[in-house]
Amino acid sequence: MQDSSEYNSVPLSTGQTEKPSAPAPFEPKVVAFCCTYCAYTAADLAGAMRLEYPPNVRVVQVLCTGKVEVEWLLRAFEEGADAVYVAGCALGDCHFLEGNLQGMRTVAYAKQLLAEVGLEPERLEFFHIPASAGVLFAQRAQQMTERAKQLGPNPFRSKRSLVEGRKLSLPPDPHPPLPPAQFGRRITAQTQDK
Ligand code: FES
Repeated sequence: MQDSSEYNSVPLSTGQTEKPSAPAPFEPKVVAFCCTYCAYTAADLAGAMRLEYPPNVRVVQVLCTGKVEVEWLLRAFEEGADAVYVAGCALGDCHFLEGNLQGMRTVAYAKQLLAEVGLEPERLEFFHIPASAGVLFAQRAQQMTERAKQLGPNPFRSKRSLVEGRKLSLPPDPHPPLPPAQFGRRITAQTQDK
C-alpha cells in the first residue's frame, strides 16, 4: 500500500502547463531613400492602389538620389537598419539629368565600405522605380525585406557603430550658415552731401 505522504508530495495540476515562450520572429528594419519625382511618387501610387507591401520598410523622401550621401547610408546601418535601398528614376529620366547615375555611384562605393567593415554588401541596393510603377515599388519593398530576413539581423545593430565602437562623425558642413543680413546704409540727405 502506498504511503499517503507520497500523494501529498505530487504537485497539484491546474491543467495549464507553462510552455517556454517562443522567440518573436525576426522582423527586419528596411530603410528606403526614394527620390521625390519617381520612387516616392510610385510609393504614393502603391498606397493609392492599396497594394500591400511589408510594413518593415521606412521611406525617406529625398529630392534626387544624386543628393544621397554615403554617410546617410552608413548611418542608417549604424542606427540599426538591416537593409537599405536607394530608389530613383529610370535611366535617362532623372529630373536633374544625371542624379541617378551619381546615386548609383554612391551606392556602389558604400557597398565597398560595407564589405570592408564586414557587413554583407547585399544589404544595400539601388533600384530604378518609375513614378507610374506602384506595383514595382511594392515588389522591391518585398524583395528587400525578404533579403534582410535571409541575411539575418544587422550585426552592428547592437554595437551601433561601424568604426571601432565610435559613432560616425559627419564631415564639417561645407556650407556654413550665412552671417546675419547687414542692412545697407540708409541714404539720407546728410550722406548724399558727403
Ligand atoms: Fe529621381 Fe534624380 S530626380 S533620381
